[in-house]
Amino acid sequence: ITGWKPLGGETVYLRSQSGVLGEIDRVRPEDMQPGAMMTVFPFRESDRGEKELLLAAERASDAPVMLIRLRPGTEVTKRPGQEDFNYGDYYAFSKICTHLGCPASQYDSQNHITLCPCHQSEFLITASAKPIFGPAARPLPQLPITVNEEGYFVARGGFIEPVGPGFWERRTRP
Ligand code: FES
Repeated sequence: ITGWKPLGGETVYLRSQSGVLGEIDRVRPEDMQPGAMMTVFPFRESDRGEKELLLAAERASDAPVMLIRLRPGTEVTKRPGQEDFNYGDYYAFSKICTHLGCPASQYDSQNHITLCPCHQSEFLITASAKPIFGPAARPLPQLPITVNEEGYFVARGGFIEPVGPGFWERRTRP
C-alpha cells in the first residue's frame, strides 16, 4: 500500500479546505447538500493547532480527498470488497488523478462524473470512480469513511490501493 496511511490507532478526521490554518473545520454530513462535492484533507487529532503539520498535509500530493454526497436514490455500482466504504450517500475518493497525478478537480453532479483537466480523464463516481474516458487506466482510490459518535466524518482506514499514478505497476510489467 502506498500513499496516505492512518497512524497507529488515531482517529483520522476529514477537514475542509475552507478552514483557516490553525482552525480545524471538521466536516459533518449536514455540511453538504445532496449533489455536492467538497475537497477535504484527512488529519489526525494530534495535528490540531499544529500549523506546520497542517501546511505539510495540504502540500502532500496524496492528501486531498473528494467527499461527495449523492442524491438519495442514486444507483451505484460498488467494487467487490469496498461495499461498505461509503457512509449512506456519502463517498470519499482520492482527488489525485491515477494518470499523472493532477488534481481531478471538476465534478459534474448531474452525471456524477469527475474530470481531470490535465488530459481530460473522466471518472464515474457512481461506478466506484472507474475511468470512462481519457488516458487514466485505474479508478480513483476510495477512502473508507464513517461518522463518529460526535457526528463528524472519520476515515475507517487508509486507501487500500496506490494513490495517484501507478508508476510502480508499470515498472514491474515485463
Ligand atoms: Fe489526469 Fe492526465 S493527469 S488525465
